[in-house]
Amino acid sequence: MTPKTFKIKSFGCQMNVYDGERMAELLSAQGMTAAPEGEDAELVVLNTCHIREKAAEKAYSDVGRLRRDDGSKPVIALAGCVAQAEGAEARRRSPMIDIVVGPQAYHRLPEMVASAARGARPVDTDMPAISKFDAFPQRRRASPSSFLTVQEGCDKFCTYCVVPYTRGAEISRPWGDIVAEAHSLVEGGAREIVLLGQNVNAWTDGERGLAHLIRALAEIDGLERIRYTTSHPMDMNDELIAAHGEVAKLMPYLHLPVQSGSDRILKAMNRGHTAAHYLSLVERIRAARPDLALSGDFIVGFPGETDKDFEATLDLVRAATFASAFSFKYSRRPGTPASAMPGQVAEEAKDERLAALNALLDEQQRAFNAAQVGRTLDVLFEKPGRYPDQVVGRSPYLQAVHVSGTADLIGRIVPVTIQSAAKMSLAGRLENQLEPA
Ligand code: 5AD
Ligand code: SF4
Repeated sequence: MTPKTFKIKSFGCQMNVYDGERMAELLSAQGMTAAPEGEDAELVVLNTCHIREKAAEKAYSDVGRLRRDDGSKPVIALAGCVAQAEGAEARRRSPMIDIVVGPQAYHRLPEMVASAARGARPVDTDMPAISKFDAFPQRRRASPSSFLTVQEGCDKFCTYCVVPYTRGAEISRPWGDIVAEAHSLVEGGAREIVLLGQNVNAWTDGERGLAHLIRALAEIDGLERIRYTTSHPMDMNDELIAAHGEVAKLMPYLHLPVQSGSDRILKAMNRGHTAAHYLSLVERIRAARPDLALSGDFIVGFPGETDKDFEATLDLVRAATFASAFSFKYSRRPGTPASAMPGQVAEEAKDERLAALNALLDEQQRAFNAAQVGRTLDVLFEKPGRYPDQVVGRSPYLQAVHVSGTADLIGRIVPVTIQSAAKMSLAGRLENQLEPA
């Protein structure tokens, strides 16, 4: 029997969240309904991440946990990057999996569910030339802050990374499709759009780049904020830098991963730039937008990384100053060039370096947050808070901001005076008595 209810669980990056939403819309268009929170679903889609070993292993333990007390199980679809990387092998590891569907093939999920219901065990890790996006229903409901994939895949081949293999080659969606989707998101209630791509700033339609697209989207009435993620330093061109100073709707926040501050390691990672290049880039972006909140990704313990290399990373962090950051221990990924490099770093050294890096980054994040106290920031409210009569939104710098207020604030951008700051969030009070919406 074809399942009637579904649940989609997404892990990993924001693109997986976006893909999860699109899969939900697709299944809903087929007449299936999302199982209510806390209830069993007849179909469970695990939208997985392959970026580090821990994330990939989690996929299988999550599959195992889907067995119910009476021994039965839902129809299980393994989607996302683990599905892409492992294909049919995934089912040899876990026979509970019914469907294996990669990130470029999930528009075929409804047929695969139907064939699984007939007893087949479909695997689809194709990367078809015809865009999956064409198969999706129009978007109707949107969150105040919504994701929109504009670019997918990666041609950079950083030596540690699985993404070029799981997401395929760089592909940009057409200009018109993106603008149309942005309009439907805004009509559906979005006030902010976050443009997504594994290398979002490599987006191009052959003539124009991301900066042009951002300028065009900024013309949409009702759309108040634009962000983009994740960028590669080598694709930060002059137009995009200028847009940070000129497009008021483009938020003063940039996630620009650097990974390491050591030129030797950057070279071994195949990042294509030096530490000095990154720092001068940051300087130029801050010249365009002085209050920019910079965010980054870091890897410690890349093969061959010495104490001296790691010191260079700390130096870069001190020089650039990050408002937020994500740091990871290097994880050896099968099939990537770095996994076969000599000089794999011992786990204890990775632990020590991660702790030292995080201590420095935490200090910078706290200082950045503390500097907002007393300021009045525009906050886009997104959802109810954990406590009654509390709502949570985001500052222009992507900080979570908590205020006491009612749910009618959700979807609105309202000035908030910041009263206190912690590592992960700010708290404040509403600046004005609100007019009814
Ligand atoms: N090990 C550890 N971290 C990794 N990342 C990507 N591949 C690996 C790996 N093999 C990190 C990078 C990237 C972020 C999404 O994940 O910092 O920017
Ligand atoms: Fe994980 Fe990368 Fe796939 Fe996103 S693209 S789900 S981060 S492996």
